[in-house]
Amino acid sequence: MRILVSGGAGFIGSHTVDALVARGCHEVSVLDDLSSGKREQVNGAARFHRVDLREAGAVAAAIERERPEVIFHFAAQMDVRRSVADPAFDAGVNLVGFLNLMESARRVGLRRVVFSSTGGAIYGEQEQFPCDESHRCRPVSPYGVAKLATESYLFFYRTEYGIDYAALRYANVYGPRQDPHGEAGVVAIFCGRILEGRAATIFGDGEQTRDYIYVGDVVRANLAALETEASGIFNVGTGIETSVNALWAQLAEVSGANAPPVRAARRAGEQMRSAISSALAAAKIGWRPEVTLRDGLARTFRYFAEHEASSA
Ligand SMILES: NC(=O)c1ccc[n+]([C@@H]2O[C@H](COP(=O)([O-])OP(=O)(O)OC[C@H]3O[C@@H](n4cnc5c(N)ncnc54)[C@H](O)[C@@H]3O)[C@@H](O)[C@H]2O)c1
Repeated sequence: MRILVSGGAGFIGSHTVDALVARGCHEVSVLDDLSSGKREQVNGAARFHRVDLREAGAVAAAIERERPEVIFHFAAQMDVRRSVADPAFDAGVNLVGFLNLMESARRVGLRRVVFSSTGGAIYGEQEQFPCDESHRCRPVSPYGVAKLATESYLFFYRTEYGIDYAALRYANVYGPRQDPHGEAGVVAIFCGRILEGRAATIFGDGEQTRDYIYVGDVVRANLAALETEASGIFNVGTGIETSVNALWAQLAEVSGANAPPVRAARRAGEQMRSAISSALAAAKIGWRPEVTLRDGLARTFRYFAEHEASSA
């Protein structure tokens, strides 16, 4: 199958490209502007197009060349605070960029889209824990608004053009290759601090919770969404709430870190609790998380430690 992966030089995208290539039966291409992704993370078996999604002409040229039957859409402006500070920029990448992709691809036989939505920002403060896909969506950031709007656009493309989709609402994804210097990705940030011998910072009382899902589990969900041809919206998380304090304690244990974290003021607008149920994904695409938090943290810390050793 001809598959184009937008954002395939990034964290989740590059792991997914590796898994698609490993299947051995797909022709895989990557479209990425390398704004946060890395060229060296792009699997050598995939054709690479350095293209900014906002450039409609360049997107159309890449799509014309690749003629994808399936698109995995990962490319995004994913800094929540930047989306609040500059909603037009966020919409330029996350909405107009997505539409540039779809408007080109629908003309060359696109059949299916697997979209990386979010199970955090899309729901806003939750009322049920864990929540399923029927929970009310009340995003409080332009980033969350754009994810919700993209899901609506996908519904439109299915209705109007018969292009099927799976929108996967990921919980907080962590694992190897996540940017330790980014704004999001607390596990990668903590690993980076531990390896630099610096104290990690915990904002607020540290009792805010998230649902942490290992990237290998997310890649399996992505492939299951492709291979089962599942249709609709699916949460992809563990259903387990973990506080930042508890996350730090587990990471300190697996890494041997002993410097206590520094405490800082709570960040304005930060969501307090988040956990999502993946019962629907289990029923429809046969997907369940497999990697425990402890195991995932150990694998992730090992990756960063080895990476640092080899780049030193
Ligand atoms: N990491 C998480 O916890 C998480 C949770 C929920 C949803 N998601 C979604 O998953 C997707 C991938 O996230 P990630 O964590 O791998 O992030 P990432 O930053 O590693 O990957 C995003 C990729 O998109 C590329 N990109 C950004 N703007 C672009 C543009 N204008 N044109 C072309 N390429 C562009 C970047 O260079 C990067 O390679 C995103 O859509 C994100 O919103 C991630």
